[in-house]
Amino acid sequence: MSDVHELNYLVDKINQLKKEGVYRELPILQSPNEAIITLNNRKVVNLSSNNYLGFANHPELKKAAIQAVEKYGVGTGSVRTIIGNLDIHEEMENILATFKKEEAVMVFQSGFNCNAGTIQSVTEKGDLIISDELNHASIIDGSRLSRADRMVFNHGDVNHLETLLKENRDKYNNVLIITDGVFSMDGDIAPLPDIVSVAEKFRAMTYVDDAHGSGVLGKNGRGTIDHFNLHGRVDFTIGTLSKAIGVVGGYVAGRKVMKDWLSHRGRPLLFSTYLPPANVGAIIKAVEILMSTSEYTDKLWSNSKYFKDKMSSIGYNIGNSKTPITPVMIGDEEKTMKFSKRLLEEDIFVSGIIFPTVPKGTGRVRCMVTAAHTKEHLDKAINVFEKVGQEMGVI
Ligand SMILES: Cc1ncc(COP(=O)(O)O)c(C=O)c1O
Repeated sequence: MSDVHELNYLVDKINQLKKEGVYRELPILQSPNEAIITLNNRKVVNLSSNNYLGFANHPELKKAAIQAVEKYGVGTGSVRTIIGNLDIHEEMENILATFKKEEAVMVFQSGFNCNAGTIQSVTEKGDLIISDELNHASIIDGSRLSRADRMVFNHGDVNHLETLLKENRDKYNNVLIITDGVFSMDGDIAPLPDIVSVAEKFRAMTYVDDAHGSGVLGKNGRGTIDHFNLHGRVDFTIGTLSKAIGVVGGYVAGRKVMKDWLSHRGRPLLFSTYLPPANVGAIIKAVEILMSTSEYTDKLWSNSKYFKDKMSSIGYNIGNSKTPITPVMIGDEEKTMKFSKRLLEEDIFVSGIIFPTVPKGTGRVRCMVTAAHTKEHLDKAINVFEKVGQEMGVI
Protein backbone atom coordinates (compact mmCIF):
# COMPACT_ATOMS: atom_id res chain seq x y z
CA MET A 1 0.00 0.00 0.00
CA SER A 2 2.66 2.53 1.02
CA ASP A 3 4.47 1.62 -2.18
CA VAL A 4 1.53 2.98 -4.15
CA HIS A 5 1.42 6.21 -2.19
CA GLU A 6 5.11 6.85 -2.78
CA LEU A 7 4.29 6.68 -6.50
CA ASN A 8 7.01 4.12 -7.05
CA TYR A 9 5.49 3.16 -10.37
CA LEU A 10 6.31 6.68 -11.58
CA VAL A 11 9.80 6.51 -10.06
CA ASP A 12 10.37 3.36 -12.15
CA LYS A 13 9.20 5.10 -15.31
CA ILE A 14 11.45 8.10 -14.66
CA ASN A 15 14.41 5.80 -14.04
CA GLN A 16 13.71 4.14 -17.37
CA LEU A 17 13.81 7.54 -19.14
CA LYS A 18 17.15 8.23 -17.46
CA LYS A 19 18.47 4.84 -18.56
CA GLU A 20 17.47 5.60 -22.15
CA GLY A 21 19.21 9.00 -22.00
CA VAL A 22 15.97 10.87 -22.73
CA TYR A 23 15.23 12.36 -19.31
CA ARG A 24 15.24 16.14 -19.38
CA GLU A 25 15.48 18.97 -16.88
CA LEU A 26 13.35 21.99 -17.70
CA PRO A 27 15.55 24.91 -18.76
CA ILE A 28 15.14 28.02 -16.60
CA LEU A 29 15.31 31.48 -18.17
CA GLN A 30 16.25 34.60 -16.26
CA SER A 31 15.36 36.94 -19.14
CA PRO A 32 12.56 37.66 -21.61
CA ASN A 33 12.26 35.42 -24.63
CA GLU A 34 14.44 37.09 -27.28
CA ALA A 35 17.23 36.22 -29.71
CA ILE A 36 19.71 36.19 -26.84
CA ILE A 37 18.44 34.81 -23.55
CA THR A 38 19.86 34.23 -20.10
CA LEU A 39 19.48 30.52 -19.56
CA ASN A 40 20.62 28.85 -16.37
CA ASN A 41 22.50 32.14 -15.73
CA ARG A 42 24.37 32.14 -19.08
CA LYS A 43 23.80 34.28 -22.16
CA VAL A 44 23.05 32.04 -25.12
CA VAL A 45 21.67 32.33 -28.66
CA ASN A 46 18.05 31.22 -28.55
CA LEU A 47 17.06 29.00 -31.47
CA SER A 48 14.30 27.29 -29.59
CA SER A 49 11.24 29.52 -29.38
CA ASN A 50 8.10 29.98 -31.45
CA ASN A 51 8.50 33.72 -31.02
CA TYR A 52 8.73 34.06 -34.82
CA LEU A 53 8.41 37.83 -35.05
CA GLY A 54 10.12 38.77 -31.80
CA PHE A 55 6.81 40.05 -30.40
CA ALA A 56 7.11 38.31 -26.99
CA ASN A 57 9.09 41.24 -25.60
CA HIS A 58 8.05 43.97 -28.05
CA PRO A 59 7.85 47.42 -26.37
CA GLU A 60 4.56 48.36 -28.04
CA LEU A 61 2.91 45.10 -26.96
CA LYS A 62 4.17 45.57 -23.41
CA LYS A 63 2.78 49.11 -23.36
CA ALA A 64 -0.61 47.90 -24.62
CA ALA A 65 -0.62 45.16 -21.96
CA ILE A 66 0.09 47.68 -19.19
CA GLN A 67 -2.62 50.03 -20.45
CA ALA A 68 -5.13 47.15 -20.48
CA VAL A 69 -4.16 46.22 -16.91
CA GLU A 70 -4.62 49.81 -15.79
CA LYS A 71 -8.06 49.99 -17.36
CA TYR A 72 -9.40 46.47 -16.64
CA GLY A 73 -7.24 44.93 -13.90
CA VAL A 74 -5.45 41.60 -13.98
CA GLY A 75 -8.23 39.04 -14.19
CA THR A 76 -11.59 38.58 -15.87
CA GLY A 77 -13.32 37.15 -12.81
CA SER A 78 -15.22 34.36 -14.49
CA VAL A 79 -15.74 32.21 -17.52
CA ARG A 80 -16.74 34.24 -20.53
CA THR A 81 -20.36 33.09 -20.63
CA ILE A 82 -21.04 34.28 -17.08
CA ILE A 83 -19.35 37.67 -16.72
CA GLY A 84 -15.80 37.34 -18.02
CA ASN A 85 -16.40 38.96 -21.40
CA LEU A 86 -14.87 42.44 -21.80
CA ASP A 87 -15.29 44.87 -24.66
CA ILE A 88 -11.61 44.31 -25.53
CA HIS A 89 -12.31 40.60 -25.95
CA GLU A 90 -14.85 41.50 -28.64
CA GLU A 91 -12.39 43.97 -30.18
CA MET A 92 -9.68 41.28 -30.26
CA GLU A 93 -11.95 38.84 -32.08
CA ASN A 94 -13.12 41.44 -34.56
CA ILE A 95 -9.63 42.52 -35.50
CA LEU A 96 -8.55 38.89 -35.85
CA ALA A 97 -11.54 38.16 -38.13
CA THR A 98 -10.61 41.14 -40.30
CA PHE A 99 -6.97 40.05 -40.39
CA LYS A 100 -7.89 36.48 -41.37
CA LYS A 101 -10.58 37.65 -43.84
CA GLU A 102 -13.23 35.48 -42.17
CA GLU A 103 -16.77 36.19 -40.94
CA ALA A 104 -15.96 35.51 -37.31
CA VAL A 105 -13.29 34.41 -34.85
CA MET A 106 -13.69 32.68 -31.49
CA VAL A 107 -10.68 32.97 -29.19
CA PHE A 108 -9.83 30.28 -26.64
CA GLN A 109 -7.34 30.42 -23.74
CA SER A 110 -4.72 28.50 -25.75
CA GLY A 111 -4.20 26.84 -29.10
CA PHE A 112 -4.36 23.48 -27.37
CA ASN A 113 -7.69 24.35 -25.74
CA CYS A 114 -9.00 25.61 -29.05
CA ASN A 115 -8.41 22.29 -30.79
CA ALA A 116 -9.61 20.28 -27.80
CA GLY A 117 -12.77 22.39 -27.51
CA THR A 118 -13.63 22.97 -31.15
CA ILE A 119 -13.21 19.49 -32.66
CA GLN A 120 -15.36 17.82 -30.02
CA SER A 121 -18.14 20.38 -30.33
CA VAL A 122 -18.45 20.54 -34.13
CA THR A 123 -18.58 16.75 -34.57
CA GLU A 124 -20.83 14.09 -33.06
CA LYS A 125 -21.78 10.42 -33.20
CA GLY A 126 -22.45 9.45 -36.80
CA ASP A 127 -19.67 11.72 -38.09
CA LEU A 128 -16.15 10.83 -39.21
CA ILE A 129 -12.89 12.68 -38.55
CA ILE A 130 -10.03 12.03 -40.99
CA SER A 131 -6.73 13.35 -39.69
CA ASP A 132 -3.19 13.62 -41.10
CA GLU A 133 -0.89 11.19 -39.28
CA LEU A 134 1.48 13.98 -38.17
CA ASN A 135 -1.19 16.31 -36.79
CA HIS A 136 -0.49 18.05 -33.49
CA ALA A 137 -1.25 16.34 -30.16
CA SER A 138 -4.06 18.81 -29.41
CA ILE A 139 -5.85 17.68 -32.59
CA ILE A 140 -5.45 14.06 -31.54
CA ASP A 141 -6.82 14.85 -28.07
CA GLY A 142 -9.66 16.98 -29.49
CA SER A 143 -10.60 14.11 -31.80
CA ARG A 144 -10.51 11.64 -28.92
CA LEU A 145 -12.93 13.86 -27.02
CA SER A 146 -15.34 13.76 -29.96
CA ARG A 147 -17.93 11.00 -30.29
CA ALA A 148 -17.23 10.79 -34.03
CA ASP A 149 -15.34 7.86 -35.59
CA ARG A 150 -11.69 8.53 -36.50
CA MET A 151 -9.37 7.61 -39.33
CA VAL A 152 -5.83 8.68 -40.17
CA PHE A 153 -4.40 9.42 -43.63
CA ASN A 154 -0.70 9.11 -44.47
CA HIS A 155 1.16 12.35 -44.01
CA GLY A 156 0.31 14.82 -46.79
CA ASP A 157 -1.01 11.97 -48.98
CA VAL A 158 -4.09 13.28 -50.79
CA ASN A 159 -4.55 10.00 -52.72
CA HIS A 160 -4.83 8.12 -49.45
CA LEU A 161 -7.27 10.73 -48.16
CA GLU A 162 -9.37 10.34 -51.30
CA THR A 163 -9.41 6.55 -50.95
CA LEU A 164 -10.64 6.84 -47.37
CA LEU A 165 -13.34 9.28 -48.48
CA LYS A 166 -14.42 7.02 -51.38
CA GLU A 167 -14.74 4.04 -49.08
CA ASN A 168 -16.40 5.78 -46.16
CA ARG A 169 -18.13 9.03 -47.11
CA ASP A 170 -21.60 7.53 -47.53
CA LYS A 171 -21.52 5.78 -44.17
CA TYR A 172 -21.40 9.05 -42.21
CA ASN A 173 -23.38 12.24 -41.75
CA ASN A 174 -20.58 14.82 -41.68
CA VAL A 175 -16.92 14.21 -42.43
CA LEU A 176 -14.25 16.55 -41.05
CA ILE A 177 -10.79 16.49 -42.62
CA ILE A 178 -8.14 17.87 -40.29
CA THR A 179 -4.61 18.88 -41.12
CA ASP A 180 -1.94 21.15 -39.77
CA GLY A 181 -1.28 24.01 -42.22
CA VAL A 182 2.43 23.98 -41.37
CA PHE A 183 3.71 20.88 -39.58
CA SER A 184 5.32 22.02 -36.39
CA MET A 185 8.17 19.52 -36.15
CA ASP A 186 9.10 19.36 -39.86
CA GLY A 187 8.20 22.77 -41.27
CA ASP A 188 6.52 21.34 -44.37
CA ILE A 189 3.25 22.78 -45.66
CA ALA A 190 0.11 20.69 -46.16
CA PRO A 191 -1.03 20.30 -49.82
CA LEU A 192 -4.08 22.39 -49.00
CA PRO A 193 -5.38 23.18 -52.51
CA ASP A 194 -5.62 19.44 -53.23
CA ILE A 195 -7.06 18.62 -49.81
CA VAL A 196 -9.73 21.29 -50.23
CA SER A 197 -10.62 20.09 -53.76
CA VAL A 198 -11.00 16.49 -52.58
CA ALA A 199 -13.07 17.68 -49.60
CA GLU A 200 -15.38 19.65 -51.88
CA LYS A 201 -15.75 16.65 -54.21
CA PHE A 202 -16.91 14.47 -51.28
CA ARG A 203 -18.90 17.16 -49.42
CA ALA A 204 -16.51 16.98 -46.48
CA MET A 205 -15.58 19.87 -44.18
CA THR A 206 -12.00 21.07 -43.76
CA TYR A 207 -10.20 22.06 -40.56
CA VAL A 208 -6.70 23.57 -40.78
CA ASP A 209 -4.55 24.08 -37.71
CA ASP A 210 -2.43 27.02 -38.79
CA ALA A 211 -0.59 27.54 -35.51
CA HIS A 212 2.75 27.75 -37.35
CA GLY A 213 1.43 29.40 -40.52
CA SER A 214 -0.34 32.34 -38.91
CA GLY A 215 1.98 35.33 -38.64
CA VAL A 216 4.41 33.52 -40.93
CA LEU A 217 2.91 32.63 -44.33
CA GLY A 218 0.66 34.72 -46.59
CA LYS A 219 0.38 38.51 -46.93
CA ASN A 220 1.59 40.13 -43.69
CA GLY A 221 1.38 36.71 -42.02
CA ARG A 222 -2.31 36.07 -42.77
CA GLY A 223 -1.53 32.36 -42.87
CA THR A 224 -1.55 29.26 -45.04
CA ILE A 225 -5.10 29.83 -46.36
CA ASP A 226 -3.99 33.24 -47.65
CA HIS A 227 -0.73 31.77 -48.99
CA PHE A 228 -2.77 29.41 -51.22
CA ASN A 229 -5.58 31.94 -51.77
CA LEU A 230 -8.20 29.56 -50.37
CA HIS A 231 -10.29 32.18 -48.59
CA GLY A 232 -13.87 31.01 -48.09
CA ARG A 233 -13.06 27.35 -48.87
CA VAL A 234 -11.79 26.13 -45.47
CA ASP A 235 -14.46 25.69 -42.80
CA PHE A 236 -12.36 25.99 -39.65
CA THR A 237 -8.97 27.72 -39.45
CA ILE A 238 -7.06 27.58 -36.18
CA GLY A 239 -4.38 30.05 -35.18
CA THR A 240 -2.39 30.53 -32.02
CA LEU A 241 -1.70 33.80 -30.25
CA SER A 242 1.27 32.24 -28.47
CA LYS A 243 3.73 31.89 -31.35
CA ALA A 244 4.08 34.67 -33.97
CA ILE A 245 1.69 36.90 -32.01
CA GLY A 246 3.96 36.46 -28.98
CA VAL A 247 1.35 36.25 -26.20
CA VAL A 248 -0.96 33.32 -25.37
CA GLY A 249 -4.30 32.01 -26.64
CA GLY A 250 -5.71 30.27 -29.68
CA TYR A 251 -8.57 30.94 -32.07
CA VAL A 252 -10.79 29.40 -34.66
CA ALA A 253 -11.80 31.50 -37.65
CA GLY A 254 -14.76 30.73 -39.89
CA ARG A 255 -18.48 31.36 -40.12
CA LYS A 256 -20.59 33.33 -37.63
CA VAL A 257 -22.73 30.27 -36.91
CA MET A 258 -19.61 28.36 -35.84
CA LYS A 259 -18.82 31.08 -33.30
CA ASP A 260 -22.40 31.13 -32.08
CA TRP A 261 -22.34 27.36 -31.55
CA LEU A 262 -18.98 27.44 -29.76
CA SER A 263 -20.24 30.07 -27.35
CA HIS A 264 -22.89 27.52 -26.34
CA ARG A 265 -20.93 24.26 -26.53
CA GLY A 266 -17.20 25.09 -26.55
CA ARG A 267 -16.36 23.47 -23.23
CA PRO A 268 -13.10 25.35 -22.46
CA LEU A 269 -15.08 28.59 -22.91
CA LEU A 270 -17.93 27.42 -20.69
CA PHE A 271 -15.84 25.87 -17.95
CA SER A 272 -12.57 27.83 -17.77
CA THR A 273 -11.91 31.49 -16.97
CA TYR A 274 -11.19 33.68 -19.96
CA LEU A 275 -8.02 35.44 -21.13
CA PRO A 276 -6.80 38.25 -18.84
CA PRO A 277 -6.78 41.89 -20.06
CA ALA A 278 -2.98 42.20 -20.34
CA ASN A 279 -2.87 39.42 -22.90
CA VAL A 280 -5.79 40.83 -24.83
CA GLY A 281 -4.29 44.32 -25.02
CA ALA A 282 -1.02 42.91 -26.31
CA ILE A 283 -2.75 40.64 -28.85
CA ILE A 284 -4.74 43.53 -30.35
CA LYS A 285 -1.54 45.57 -30.68
CA ALA A 286 0.30 42.66 -32.33
CA VAL A 287 -2.40 42.25 -34.96
CA GLU A 288 -2.46 46.01 -35.58
CA ILE A 289 1.30 45.93 -36.18
CA LEU A 290 1.03 42.95 -38.52
CA MET A 291 -1.72 44.63 -40.53
CA SER A 292 0.28 47.83 -40.89
CA THR A 293 3.67 46.47 -42.00
CA SER A 294 5.40 43.44 -43.51
CA GLU A 295 8.70 44.46 -41.89
CA TYR A 296 8.63 41.59 -39.36
CA THR A 297 7.50 38.81 -41.66
CA ASP A 298 10.02 39.94 -44.31
CA LYS A 299 12.85 39.80 -41.78
CA LEU A 300 11.70 36.39 -40.55
CA TRP A 301 11.85 34.95 -44.08
CA SER A 302 15.18 36.52 -45.00
CA ASN A 303 16.75 35.30 -41.74
CA SER A 304 15.42 31.80 -42.14
CA LYS A 305 16.52 31.54 -45.78
CA TYR A 306 20.02 32.65 -44.77
CA PHE A 307 20.18 30.10 -41.94
CA LYS A 308 18.72 27.20 -43.91
CA ASP A 309 20.99 27.76 -46.91
CA LYS A 310 24.08 27.79 -44.67
CA MET A 311 22.99 24.72 -42.69
CA SER A 312 22.41 22.75 -45.91
CA SER A 313 25.73 23.89 -47.35
CA ILE A 314 27.68 22.62 -44.33
CA GLY A 315 26.06 19.23 -44.82
CA TYR A 316 23.07 19.04 -42.49
CA ASN A 317 19.89 17.18 -43.38
CA ILE A 318 17.18 19.76 -42.70
CA GLY A 319 14.34 17.60 -43.95
CA ASN A 320 11.57 18.93 -46.14
CA SER A 321 10.96 22.26 -44.46
CA LYS A 322 9.39 25.02 -46.53
CA THR A 323 9.06 27.47 -43.63
CA PRO A 324 11.33 29.01 -40.96
CA ILE A 325 11.08 25.80 -38.89
CA THR A 326 14.46 24.13 -39.46
CA PRO A 327 14.69 20.55 -38.18
CA VAL A 328 18.24 19.21 -38.00
CA MET A 329 17.70 15.50 -38.32
CA ILE A 330 19.72 13.28 -35.96
CA GLY A 331 17.61 10.08 -35.64
CA ASP A 332 18.65 8.31 -32.46
CA GLU A 333 16.96 9.76 -29.35
CA GLU A 334 19.97 9.61 -27.03
CA LYS A 335 22.28 11.14 -29.64
CA THR A 336 19.75 13.91 -30.24
CA MET A 337 19.72 14.86 -26.57
CA LYS A 338 23.55 14.71 -26.39
CA PHE A 339 23.81 16.88 -29.50
CA SER A 340 21.50 19.52 -27.99
CA LYS A 341 23.53 19.44 -24.76
CA ARG A 342 26.81 19.95 -26.63
CA LEU A 343 25.35 22.93 -28.51
CA LEU A 344 24.32 24.47 -25.20
CA GLU A 345 27.84 24.03 -23.83
CA GLU A 346 28.84 26.25 -26.77
CA ASP A 347 26.10 28.80 -25.89
CA ILE A 348 23.57 27.79 -28.56
CA PHE A 349 20.20 26.73 -27.20
CA VAL A 350 18.20 24.37 -29.42
CA SER A 351 15.90 21.83 -27.79
CA GLY A 352 16.19 18.18 -28.70
CA ILE A 353 12.84 16.91 -29.98
CA ILE A 354 12.21 13.22 -29.44
CA PHE A 355 9.37 10.73 -28.93
CA PRO A 356 6.49 11.29 -28.10
CA THR A 357 6.67 14.71 -29.80
CA VAL A 358 7.98 13.04 -33.00
CA PRO A 359 7.92 9.34 -34.03
CA LYS A 360 10.59 7.09 -32.43
CA GLY A 361 13.93 7.10 -34.25
CA THR A 362 13.34 10.52 -35.86
CA GLY A 363 14.97 12.66 -33.16
CA ARG A 364 16.02 16.14 -34.22
CA VAL A 365 17.02 19.48 -32.89
CA ARG A 366 14.51 21.98 -34.17
CA CYS A 367 16.01 25.38 -34.97
CA MET A 368 13.60 28.27 -34.84
CA VAL A 369 14.98 31.34 -36.54
CA THR A 370 13.08 34.55 -35.76
CA ALA A 371 12.84 38.13 -37.02
CA ALA A 372 14.69 39.17 -33.85
CA HIS A 373 17.94 37.40 -34.80
CA THR A 374 20.79 39.33 -36.38
CA LYS A 375 23.22 37.87 -38.96
CA GLU A 376 25.83 37.79 -36.16
CA HIS A 377 23.60 35.59 -34.00
CA LEU A 378 22.95 33.26 -36.89
CA ASP A 379 26.62 33.10 -37.92
CA LYS A 380 27.61 32.26 -34.37
CA ALA A 381 25.08 29.43 -34.31
CA ILE A 382 26.17 28.12 -37.73
CA ASN A 383 29.84 28.04 -36.65
CA VAL A 384 28.97 26.07 -33.53
CA PHE A 385 26.78 23.69 -35.54
CA GLU A 386 29.69 23.04 -37.88
CA LYS A 387 32.09 22.34 -35.01
CA VAL A 388 29.74 20.12 -32.97
CA GLY A 389 28.36 18.35 -36.04
CA GLN A 390 31.87 17.30 -37.10
CA GLU A 391 32.83 16.35 -33.58
CA MET A 392 29.77 14.09 -33.20
CA GLY A 393 29.87 12.69 -36.72
CA VAL A 394 26.54 14.20 -37.75
CA ILE A 395 28.00 15.98 -40.79
C1 LIG B 1 0.15 22.73 -34.66
C2 LIG B 1 -0.10 23.23 -33.27
N1 LIG B 1 -1.36 23.35 -32.83
C3 LIG B 1 -1.62 23.79 -31.59
C4 LIG B 1 -0.61 24.12 -30.72
C5 LIG B 1 -0.94 24.58 -29.34
O1 LIG B 1 -0.81 25.95 -29.25
P1 LIG B 1 -0.61 26.70 -27.86
O2 LIG B 1 0.81 26.57 -27.48
O3 LIG B 1 -1.03 28.10 -28.16
O4 LIG B 1 -1.52 26.04 -26.89
C6 LIG B 1 0.70 24.03 -31.13
C7 LIG B 1 1.81 24.42 -30.21
O5 LIG B 1 2.52 23.65 -29.71
C8 LIG B 1 0.98 23.56 -32.44
O6 LIG B 1 2.24 23.44 -32.85
